Amino acid sequence: MTPAEREQAVTDEVLASFDTTADPRLREVMQSLVRHLHAFARDVRLSEREWEAAIAFLTRAGHITDDRRQEFILLSDVLGLSMLTVAINEPAVPGATEATVFGPFFIDDAPEVELGGDIARGAAGPPCYVSGQVRDTGGHPIAGARIDVWEADEDGFYDVQYSDDRSAGRGRLRAGADGGYRFWSVLPAPYPIPHDGPVGDLLTAAGRGPMRPAHLHFMVTAPGHRTLITHIFVAGDPYLGRDAVFGVKDGLVVDVEHHPAGVAPDGSDRPEAWTSIAFDLVLVAEPTHS
Ligand code: BEZ
Ligand code: FE
Repeated sequence: MTPAEREQAVTDEVLASFDTTADPRLREVMQSLVRHLHAFARDVRLSEREWEAAIAFLTRAGHITDDRRQEFILLSDVLGLSMLTVAINEPAVPGATEATVFGPFFIDDAPEVELGGDIARGAAGPPCYVSGQVRDTGGHPIAGARIDVWEADEDGFYDVQYSDDRSAGRGRLRAGADGGYRFWSVLPAPYPIPHDGPVGDLLTAAGRGPMRPAHLHFMVTAPGHRTLITHIFVAGDPYLGRDAVFGVKDGLVVDVEHHPAGVAPDGSDRPEAWTSIAFDLVLVAEPTHS
């Protein structure tokens, strides 16, 4: 056997070991994974030291991961795997708001906030009034759509990154009868993804930065519609062209309006300067199965 044949024999034996997998999808995924993983190792002629370094990297990622820190999602994000999965599963639909990366900072039981309420709830930053309409691609308002929003404060941290169990910069609200939504928040600021772990070391070694352009996360759900997971990004942000996790799409970049102190659209009297963002959330109707 030539060395190349011996290498191929290893791959073939492992592939065959999955032939008995009862679940056909699991068989397909695992055999493809083995094929590509082995091809990668052959391609780079993976050394034993490099294999050990990879295992040490993954071990560190495991050790730093807990309920509040998800290093494996970060790894997927900086490798572009998260955005590739979005691209595969959420292809652009004309007229619909595009999807982007979920990120690791969503919390399922965010506090309910009334329409027009304040989701900042103590998060630091300049006030920002966010409003728009939830509708489908046919222009029909989606009354009562559930809207989850979450964002970092002006120091670049989500509430869950603080050790004091605070809940701030996030909330869940319902669109009104006309699909309209509005809430007060803080102006999104650029921030670094957590980079004090192995993923941060990888970025440094690659000469890449950890920054994400300023953004506000949305997850919008409504019966009979595809769930939309997206962000809005702030136009003019210096990191728009070099998001550490490749999440920026042109259609998600919005202008921020700056206003002096005074009366806001909801009639409230703002004692300080404030900002506003208008953005409609357009969902894709799902065919109903009877
Ligand atoms: C975020 O935007 O919250 C995020 C996305 C990917 C990695 C880290 C953070
Ligand atoms: Fe974020």
